[in-house]
Amino acid sequence: MAPDNMISRRGMVNSVIAASTYAATGSHLLFAQQGKEEKKGPTTSTAADRERRLQWWHEARFGMFVHFGLYSVLGRHEWAMEEEGIPVAEYQKLAKQFNPAPHSARAWAKLAKQAGMKYMVMTSKHHEGFCNFNTKLTDYCAPKQAAGRDLIAEFYEAARSENLRVGFYYSLMDWHHPDGATCAHDEAARRRFVDYTHGLVRELCSNYGKLDILWYDVDWPLSPEGWESVKLNKMVRQLQPDILINNRAGIPEDFTTPEQRITATAEPWEACMTMDDSWGYHKADDDWKTPKTIVRNLVTCAQGYGNYLLNIGPKADGSIPQESIDALTATGRWMEKHGDLIHQAQLCRVKSSNYARFTRTGNKLYVHVHFWPGDTVSIGGLKNKVSSARLLPSGKSLEVNQDGFRTRITGLPNDAPDPLVSVIELECDSEPIQDMKYVRENRPRMGVNFSS
Ligand code: GLC
Repeated sequence: MAPDNMISRRGMVNSVIAASTYAATGSHLLFAQQGKEEKKGPTTSTAADRERRLQWWHEARFGMFVHFGLYSVLGRHEWAMEEEGIPVAEYQKLAKQFNPAPHSARAWAKLAKQAGMKYMVMTSKHHEGFCNFNTKLTDYCAPKQAAGRDLIAEFYEAARSENLRVGFYYSLMDWHHPDGATCAHDEAARRRFVDYTHGLVRELCSNYGKLDILWYDVDWPLSPEGWESVKLNKMVRQLQPDILINNRAGIPEDFTTPEQRITATAEPWEACMTMDDSWGYHKADDDWKTPKTIVRNLVTCAQGYGNYLLNIGPKADGSIPQESIDALTATGRWMEKHGDLIHQAQLCRVKSSNYARFTRTGNKLYVHVHFWPGDTVSIGGLKNKVSSARLLPSGKSLEVNQDGFRTRITGLPNDAPDPLVSVIELECDSEPIQDMKYVRENRPRMGVNFSS
């Protein structure tokens, strides 16, 4: 039976998510800012220090999320234990089966690198409570079960050998620990569980070398005071002075974590998304995103000066589902041509188009066309003078015409030059600005009678 104060899964997730949203739904990416801003961070460091620590992360822009655990054996989504009401005694037997091929993480890291990603974040412990790492605090961990080795150590080594930054995901919520639910109303249980939690996080921050990101998840059932989140994160920063910490221990820290949608806030942000509809391996889930959608999402993140953390859910043997390999390989081919524009992108204030997204580097505006309109690409309301236009990656120069309301780029091929997203570079006289209101209000109007 779920405890009385159990809230829905969505509710738990939403409680940690920022309030102002840019939605990314299906094939339509909407930029629509809503409501209030999240509280300003960080809580356990200064804004200036955060700026310093975030520098590499902003340039990195694109990372791989890896969900791997006992749920990978079941292959029915990482929430199977709870959604199917599986008893702990039954579920924990999976630890006797979970034994991925040695160094599977090397293939993940190679694929991440090839895709143009610059960092990786892996589940050290998901909600199921099983630790992929070596710990003195429980024997419910990979080295003491079928795997017989530290999967986080393998992951760390694999990412580092591809020159990628490393992050550990850690779920505060724990469905296995005896005090994981009772801690909400039993002080002795809370004390034990919080000591256990702080102890595991201490091990993660002490035993592997330099750690770049600590990625907390679901803080049910305690408040930040209950978790002693400030004390916890102060300890983390003492052990890892350069680390970035997300906002999911209930207090604002270095970045916000919009989930399954692209959210831009004034604070640094990272949109995390699945490739199908599950984080952990789900063998029947066939709702795969296309490479075009993935590239378009990445461009949308770069447009808003945010990051994109894209997930893979390896199978229990450590192999990556073929659909994910194919999508990331195609993304990598696109990134080989255009990756610099993604990594160097600054906040871009040009947003409106039915067929393109935009990124900016200095005064250069990049038009990323995902639905190719044919021989002319037009942008409404661009306030800048455009001195030149080029089709990338060839650099072929293009004709530009501007009339104060419309910027037309002509002489383009009828078929999309790139099957995913085609890119045009516009050199502007200053930072590109778009004003659609100006177009609506000032475009010359005719009389009520139409005559050609
Ligand atoms: C949610 C889910 C979890 C997943 C996470 C990734 O919190 O509960 O399964 O790991 O999102 O952001």
